[in-house]
Amino acid sequence: MPNRSEARGIVLIGAQWGDEGKGKVVDLLAGRCDAVVRFQGGHNAGHTLIHEGRTVVLHLLPSGILSPGVECLIGNGVALYLPQLFEELRSAPASHRQRLFVSPGCPLILPSHIALDQAREKHAGRRRIGTTGRGIGPAYEDRAARRAVRAGELFAPEAFRERLRLAMDLHNFMLKQYYGAETEDPERVADEWLGMAEELRPMMDDIAARLRRLRNEGKSVLFEGAQGVMLDIDHGTYPYVTSSSTVAAGALAGSGARLEHVAEVIGVVKAYTTRVGEGPFPTELKDAAGERLAREGAERGATTGRPRRCGWFDAVAVRHAAQRASINSLCITKLDVLDGLDSLRICVGYRLDGRGIDTLPSSMSRYGDCQPRYEECEGWRESTRGATRWEDLPPPARAYIKRLEELTELKACIISTGPARGQTIIRRHPFAR
Ligand code: IMP
Repeated sequence: MPNRSEARGIVLIGAQWGDEGKGKVVDLLAGRCDAVVRFQGGHNAGHTLIHEGRTVVLHLLPSGILSPGVECLIGNGVALYLPQLFEELRSAPASHRQRLFVSPGCPLILPSHIALDQAREKHAGRRRIGTTGRGIGPAYEDRAARRAVRAGELFAPEAFRERLRLAMDLHNFMLKQYYGAETEDPERVADEWLGMAEELRPMMDDIAARLRRLRNEGKSVLFEGAQGVMLDIDHGTYPYVTSSSTVAAGALAGSGARLEHVAEVIGVVKAYTTRVGEGPFPTELKDAAGERLAREGAERGATTGRPRRCGWFDAVAVRHAAQRASINSLCITKLDVLDGLDSLRICVGYRLDGRGIDTLPSSMSRYGDCQPRYEECEGWRESTRGATRWEDLPPPARAYIKRLEELTELKACIISTGPARGQTIIRRHPFAR
């Protein structure tokens, strides 16, 4: 009987508003694990990796796909847009398909979901969420309303057509009557989607059963989160959130893994903060300092190309994320972006209605009124770019990291100092036995 305590399952999630650099970390850790699992979100995610000197952007495929021999699993919690899946597969070697497994339980994103997402944002005007326009919200709404068409249904064509027609009739009613937008033809979509079924068939698998087997065989599994805890449907800055559970518990619900499978939850944070889309962001810098972070950090969305809003590190938000998502260690990315600054700021609390608070307000509707309270830290002139050893960091950079650790009550096991795999300080390897 294999020793199950060796079958480490690690959940890696964003602990800010997404774009923390999770793709690079997953790619780095994938070399030491047997499987990588996506469990929520869809092609709204954009994971940028530098692989063999080439920039690769993945939206739907697990970031383990670039590591030979690693199984890549797409769990039932992922909203699946088939044209995107096949496009990403076509730009990768054919052998990749043999290690990709997709749950029949994935709700499918249809063209009418995308049309609804975009029509709704347009209609909302200044109250828009700033979504990626990829149909994510409407697809998850259909899942909750029990009218989603799921991947496994593609293999019973008549029933598939019927369910797709039912869902799309409602979408078309809303598109035409409420938003005054163009409708989509259900028969055309059914034909097109059924035409993709055979390509998908070899990848269909029971992901929960596969995870159980991996665990019984003593294999290591990495659960790869998308977006971040502050965008979680329940625990984020509602309503300016995505429509899935980005907390660690989402890894279980979205894959069917057992609770005991998870040995550690790593929260990935940037050494500062960014956000795309609308919604409150207390430490946002709307001045030259923010522009500098955006420039040095190349802060543009990997999915939509939108500029990201930038600001100082917010320890209150990360503490909130850590509590809500059971995070027990940190991975800090993009430290090098802060090189060359005379001084830095860390948000250690907020001010609301003239009073100091050190947590998020109990009602998210007040979050936009919170003003940051800052602590000043010494900056550093030296370059940290590409540093691989803790001792090589300038003392103020080490002091900055230590302060982030104190304020978040979490230890940083990994510090990233550049986009390539090797540009990393590994203080403790999460998969080390
Ligand atoms: P949706 O997920 O497209 O519905 O967008 C909802 C919110 O989540 C918007 O603010 C998006 O900008 C944000 N969002 C969605 N995916 C990502 C991501 O991968 N990184 C950062 N923000 C994201």
